[in-house]
Amino acid sequence: MNINIIKQKLNSISDNDLGYNLEQLEAVKIVEQQDDDLFVLLELVPPINWIEADIRKTAEAIISELEPNVNFTIEIKEKELPKNPSKFLTGVKNIIAVAAGKGGVGKSAMAANLAASLSLSNAKVGLIDGDIYGPSQPTIWGMKDVKLPAEPTESGKTIVYPAEKHNIKIASMGFLMQESDAAIVRGPILASYLQMLIEQIEWGELDFIVFDLPPGTGDIQLTLTQKVPLTGAVVVTTPQEISVVDVRRSVKMFEKVKVPVLGVIENMSYFIPEDAPDKKYYIFGQGGGKTIADESQVRFLGEVPLLQKFRESNDNGLPYVLREDGGEYAEKLHNITASIVQQIRKINYEKLGSSELSIEI
Ligand SMILES: Nc1ncnc2c1ncn2[C@@H]1O[C@H](COP(=O)(O)OP(=O)(O)OP(=O)(O)O)[C@@H](O)[C@H]1O
Ligand SMILES: [Mg+2]
Repeated sequence: MNINIIKQKLNSISDNDLGYNLEQLEAVKIVEQQDDDLFVLLELVPPINWIEADIRKTAEAIISELEPNVNFTIEIKEKELPKNPSKFLTGVKNIIAVAAGKGGVGKSAMAANLAASLSLSNAKVGLIDGDIYGPSQPTIWGMKDVKLPAEPTESGKTIVYPAEKHNIKIASMGFLMQESDAAIVRGPILASYLQMLIEQIEWGELDFIVFDLPPGTGDIQLTLTQKVPLTGAVVVTTPQEISVVDVRRSVKMFEKVKVPVLGVIENMSYFIPEDAPDKKYYIFGQGGGKTIADESQVRFLGEVPLLQKFRESNDNGLPYVLREDGGEYAEKLHNITASIVQQIRKINYEKLGSSELSIEI
């Protein structure tokens, strides 16, 4: 068995998300003969769920071609990221804020479907609904009367856990207060509720938390973005001018607190009637999301058309991508997720680089 040639070929596999090969990424950790078999260990930049299968397939093809008679095992692991420096959410690897400058653009719908889409790729996912003005995740997940499970400990403290639905851990401002409260509860109480969602809930070990932020770019949003160790933020907009000007403000806010903007999603981009599929109406104008993304030098993550079934599903307790008949529309949402994950992998690659550097020093 020619271990060196196998190693060389494995090193030449490309990680297409990052644009580097496995040698550059120092990903090929072990290639060794164990009795008559071959054992390979690859360590890839996390999160790996979206590329693992492709890389495994390529590695299998390489080995089968070079050594057709050898049994082999390929183990693929995530490289370990430097510990999240915050006191909060320490077991969470990636935290994605979903923000919008303006209300009603579909931010909560995008946050819910992003969480669901991530989880469909076998990632462990949590969702924080931090919208103090109108928490809508309880409606989207059909969890209106849910109370967070709590457990007293021997020391007299109470541990509060997130609720769970479709394998996703969920905590919403809506679980802590009555729907009618939102408008009347005053600042300090709201702040303590928010604090509870982030600091007191036992979120445990997760690959992702998706954080549905309250709309706008005021003090509350600014404080939240500083408090939570965000990996990056996704900004949702609709195509028309009055919505896109707020994107600029959101991007500036994240720049100020040094949170990378992963990209802009344009929602409600167009409408294709089900009974007239050759017609396409740009109800809210055309191209605003792409233009503002280019102007702000952030990635344009994609267009999400208006669809009645999308609204019906989300407003009736099932995020659209969890439907079995999601079709092409769900595919669009999954592609947006993959694009967000790719951005996160680039950020994590840089984090890994800087951690190795700090060890050298
Ligand atoms: N692409 C779409 N097609 C059809 N309906 C949509 C689409 N996106 C969002 N909706 C619907 O529009 C409404 C508003 O969306 P959502 O609540 O997600 O907006 P939001 O930005 O979170 O609003 P808020 O500012 O109130 O938090 C919801 O009923 C949602 O289901
Ligand atoms: Mg909302």
